[in-house]
Amino acid sequence: MKYIWSGRLKKDLHHLVRQFTFSIEIDKKMALFDVLGSIVHAEMLVTQKIISRQDGHRIISGLKKIQNEIKTDSFVFMPDDEDIHTAVERRLTELIGPCAGKLHTARSRNDQIVLDEKLYLKHIIPEMIASIVCFQKNLVKKAEECLGIYMPEFTHFQPAQPVLFAHHLLAYVTMCERDKDRFIDALKRINVSPLGACACVGTSFNIDPDYVAEKLNFETIFSNSIDAVSDRDFIIETISAIGILMVHLSRISEEFIIWHSPLIGFVDLPEEFCTGSSIMPQKKNPDVLELIRGKTSTVIGNLTGIFTLIKGLPLSYNRDLQEDKRFLFESCEISAVSLAILTEIIEKTKINANRMKESCKVGYIEATDIAEYLVTRGTPFRQAHHLVGKLVGIAAERNLPMAEIDEETLKMMGCDTETIHFIKTLDSQKSISLKKSKGGTGINQVKQEIKKWKSILK
Ligand code: ARG
Repeated sequence: MKYIWSGRLKKDLHHLVRQFTFSIEIDKKMALFDVLGSIVHAEMLVTQKIISRQDGHRIISGLKKIQNEIKTDSFVFMPDDEDIHTAVERRLTELIGPCAGKLHTARSRNDQIVLDEKLYLKHIIPEMIASIVCFQKNLVKKAEECLGIYMPEFTHFQPAQPVLFAHHLLAYVTMCERDKDRFIDALKRINVSPLGACACVGTSFNIDPDYVAEKLNFETIFSNSIDAVSDRDFIIETISAIGILMVHLSRISEEFIIWHSPLIGFVDLPEEFCTGSSIMPQKKNPDVLELIRGKTSTVIGNLTGIFTLIKGLPLSYNRDLQEDKRFLFESCEISAVSLAILTEIIEKTKINANRMKESCKVGYIEATDIAEYLVTRGTPFRQAHHLVGKLVGIAAERNLPMAEIDEETLKMMGCDTETIHFIKTLDSQKSISLKKSKGGTGINQVKQEIKKWKSILK
């Protein structure tokens, strides 16, 4: 018996088919989960008296040996190992003889593979959440260190209004919190054990899927065997959550790339995260961040891939589903490395407070504060907006900051003494100190936020 399924098929597999259909290389990642699932399955077969206690004992001690071989990297894969399930069964047969053949009673590779994938995700997602927390912590730490530093906030990549750099960093902490929520939510549906669905319709044996679920820390078990082996929603959801996370990581990478450009100069990236040029000796390039941005497209491609893979499949199991792991594993790996790298970059990047402060002098970013001041003096906002727009026009024509427009002109434009005083004494720091609204850049608001995040992320 060359393959576990080759009873009916007489011819050997074409060499192209072997390569084409085998999934062992990718499956290796799930080896330990596969064996763990088998141990619990064997225990269940014993407690349900489907196999004898002695057989159960032989099977489980063989599986434990295999577990050890995998852990110590001494498990030898063979050329005919089609996937992880068959590799383990082949090795078990070598260890305990034909009794190994009893392990697959009341089970199919169709429910087994879903179990393996879910066990993998139950392991990897908490790690992912912990990595997000580390990233958030470093952002909060940086925000606290930079509390007095301000810069222009942008809209349309045009200077908009003065902002605390800390407030800008906390925007990423906030979005990462949503990322965590999405992973936690996805875990709820991952936490449904599929084992016992068998090939697609269940089995005639008196199995106990709840036993397996409980031992493997699943919250509950499947309710429909067809759905259990066909469902890959949990993979679509996980890659979606990773995709959104990567979009966030890509956006912060993009910002640091821009800020690190000598033309902007807001930040100086740590050297060990930069590379040089083979021709231009002066370069300190942000390649690592560019690759986070670039690899985000791979994850987005994987999301499109998994959607496309599933959308036309009839129920129940189809071999197409084997391709799901490529998308999943690659996405998990990219996000894990990207998070680890960015966490360090945030910590080690030098912030150029002077450059940020100087940039606030460009682009009349205090204009909105003048309009708001006029409103407090009784001018309707639309009218105030119009007047300040005119003042900006005058200042731009004369190539002056607003505060340097002469009093005569300001009076002629209808400004009274108090307004002139306000304009003359307004700077970015004052602009920030005027912000009182919740969730805005006012210093007290930002301090509160830092305190809040520190207690959430403890
Ligand atoms: N390698 C398969 C997968 O990843 C495992 C299940 C195979 N089932 C089957 N009937 N060929 O989906």
